[in-house]
Amino acid sequence: MKMVHRPALYALAFLAATRAYVWPSPQLDALESARFDQSGFNANPMSGFVQPCNFFLFGPNTGRSDAADWIRTAYHDMATYNITDGTGGLDASIRFAEEQNRTENAGDGFTNTMIIVNILVSRYISNADAIALAALLAIENCGGPEIAFRGGRLDAAEPNAPGVPEPEQDLDSHIAAFARQGFTQTEMIGLVACGHTFGGVQHDPFPDIVNVLNDTTDTEDVAHFDSTFLTFDNNIAKEYISGTTQNPLVVGFNDTTNSDKRIFGSDGNTTMLSFANSPDVFASTCADLFARMLDTVPSGVQLTDVISPLPVKPSNIEVIMDGDTLQLWGQLRLWNMTDDPAHNVIMLWQDHIGGTGNATLTFSSLSSSTGGKYSAAWYVWNTTEFSVLYLDAAAGVKSLSFIVDGELQDQSGLGFAIQDGFMFSSTSCQVETPFSGRIDVAVRNGVNPTRVYLEQTTTDSVGRIVVTEIDISPPSQPVILNSAYSIWSINVTDPTRPYGIGAEIEGVKYSSAEVHSFIVFPLCPT
Ligand code: HEM
Ligand SMILES: *[C@@H]1O[C@H](CO)[C@@H](O)[C@H](O)[C@H]1NC(C)=O
Ligand SMILES: *[C@@H]1O[C@H](CO)[C@@H](O)[C@H](O)[C@H]1NC(C)=O
Ligand SMILES: *[C@@H]1O[C@H](CO)[C@@H](O)[C@H](O)[C@H]1NC(C)=O
Ligand SMILES: *[C@@H]1O[C@H](CO)[C@@H](O)[C@H](O)[C@H]1NC(C)=O
Ligand SMILES: *[C@@H]1O[C@H](CO)[C@@H](O)[C@H](O)[C@H]1NC(C)=O
Ligand SMILES: *[C@@H]1O[C@H](CO)[C@@H](O)[C@H](O)[C@H]1NC(C)=O
Ligand SMILES: *[C@@H]1O[C@H](CO)[C@@H](O)[C@H](O)[C@H]1NC(C)=O
Ligand SMILES: *[C@@H]1O[C@H](CO)[C@@H](O)[C@H](O)[C@H]1NC(C)=O
Ligand SMILES: *[C@@H]1O[C@H](CO)[C@@H](O)[C@H](O)[C@H]1NC(C)=O
Repeated sequence: MKMVHRPALYALAFLAATRAYVWPSPQLDALESARFDQSGFNANPMSGFVQPCNFFLFGPNTGRSDAADWIRTAYHDMATYNITDGTGGLDASIRFAEEQNRTENAGDGFTNTMIIVNILVSRYISNADAIALAALLAIENCGGPEIAFRGGRLDAAEPNAPGVPEPEQDLDSHIAAFARQGFTQTEMIGLVACGHTFGGVQHDPFPDIVNVLNDTTDTEDVAHFDSTFLTFDNNIAKEYISGTTQNPLVVGFNDTTNSDKRIFGSDGNTTMLSFANSPDVFASTCADLFARMLDTVPSGVQLTDVISPLPVKPSNIEVIMDGDTLQLWGQLRLWNMTDDPAHNVIMLWQDHIGGTGNATLTFSSLSSSTGGKYSAAWYVWNTTEFSVLYLDAAAGVKSLSFIVDGELQDQSGLGFAIQDGFMFSSTSCQVETPFSGRIDVAVRNGVNPTRVYLEQTTTDSVGRIVVTEIDISPPSQPVILNSAYSIWSINVTDPTRPYGIGAEIEGVKYSSAEVHSFIVFPLCPT
């Protein structure tokens, strides 16, 4: 039987490896942006909390940093993993008070982290993906290596079984704990060193390890793991090997809690020596171990492929019907580009009646990633920041492509598909700010959706994102908007809510972007 199955597995692996990420793909688009747009225009809103790397949510001179909190949070969330039965792992169970209350999770770093991580959570980015992204952003922005990122983590519905190692436990327990998490003894040494290049131990949660320090630049009494505790580097290993380390888990006054000392020395210092001797070995080892740490998820969770930046990426695309005019909003991101007036960027579009159009795009802004290692240039197709193209509604828009410095960019002939089968109509209105109103959806004649509905993003009782669908009844007789679109309407009690719209067309569900804050519904005519 095994022999029969093997070719099938190879075929699957081949398919997985060659399946390219084609835009649009709402979840991948969102994850890719969160992962790569780290600074500047359209930047991930979390990045600002680790730029600069000494930033701490609750003020300066505490000795603490968000970056250290975020990395420790990702590890503690993952550290419940049991490789034998596939339970635990990085699933945001650390957000539960019951888990944070355990002595193995001493300190307020987890609450602090979840406050910020929440900014990123959406229908496409789970709490668990956001925790993983937080750790990645902290590491990449603060001198660390690039980390291969996959998305698709799911949020646990309840706390996991305990399982985070504690400093007073002996070496054998630590080896066993990391084995349960899926890491060998050598990998344990690596992962602890990679994590402990950031931050340190605070007096408050660990009064038996760290004394009050009486230092006005370290008001939360943090004894740091190395002399460069805000950034990623191999000083954690160099200082350990040279015997100059002040790491409170190596030279702490109570040897029982010197867990780093036992772990680092557990292979006769071989691993730590290799780190001390080579920043590159340390960085590449940590890149692998961090990625594995972030990818340790409960069995059954299917992660995406490693997400690479799309070289040419339309962003924040939105279509709105305004009378006879179809407005196409959005921007274009060109990866690995700088602001150079010599660049020539043209957008082409195809409509539904065999026509094409084009416009020369204008450079707008820059963004960057990975501590400035990569830059991207943003282009708009009109002079405003939220650039908008005015198109004839009857012609509509089927797909975009681009010519960048003379080279056609059309996703190998697929184009960048635009969904103009249904969209918000500017005839939507509100009655009495902000209590009620009517949402009008323009539906393209001939598209014949089986359903059109509002989508509302809320959280369930355990903080997981839920998308609720509110069906819009088909109109009893067509409400003509223009030569190509008619209207489906629904009365809502709070038109200012972030509603999206969705439609099921030929068995496939599509979602529009949410109503932007820049859309103000006019008053309904009385
Ligand atoms: C045997 C394993 C480990 C033990 C016993 C241990 C123990 C500790 C302790 C006691 C603290 C102080 C926490 C505080 O005062 O807020 C700490 C901090 C930290 N740990 Fe670990 N740790 C272990 C493994 C790891 C791993 C594998 C990582 C990540 C890969 C990691 C990342 C961190 C970070 C970033 C901090 C600094 C937190 C801050 O400064 O806010 N630790 N660890
Ligand atoms: C891991 O799971 C296995 C199988 O359910 C169980 O026997 C074992 O006790 C678990 N390990 C820990 C440390 O909980
Ligand atoms: C966590 O601890 C706090 C303070 O001791 C307590 O008020 C709270 O009820 C605990 N929560 C859970 C879920 O155990
Ligand atoms: C704390 O430091 C200040 C000034 O550096 C000193 O005057 C004071 O005595 C110190 N307090 C303790 C408890 O060490
Ligand atoms: C050292 O730490 C252990 C574990 O926290 C504790 O039981 C012991 O009392 C401590 N020893 C001293 C001398 O403080
Ligand atoms: C590892 O290195 C430290 C620091 O130089 C040293 O104190 C310790 O004895 C070494 N351990 C082993 C097992 O060689
Ligand atoms: C970025 O573009 C430059 C040329 O402009 C090229 O040499 C380099 O390989 C590109 N890097 C990446 C990561 O694509
Ligand atoms: C852009 O459109 C004009 C006519 O509007 C046409 O002459 C020109 O060839 C088009 N350019 C491209 C690159 O398609
Ligand atoms: C650009 O925007 C202006 C209004 O701001 C509009 O009149 C013009 O038609 C737009 N250009 C295109 C190509 O849509
Ligand atoms: C919305 O409410 C208005 C005023 O009550 C009503 O006339 C209209 O029929 C309602 N529309 C729908 C689609 O329910």
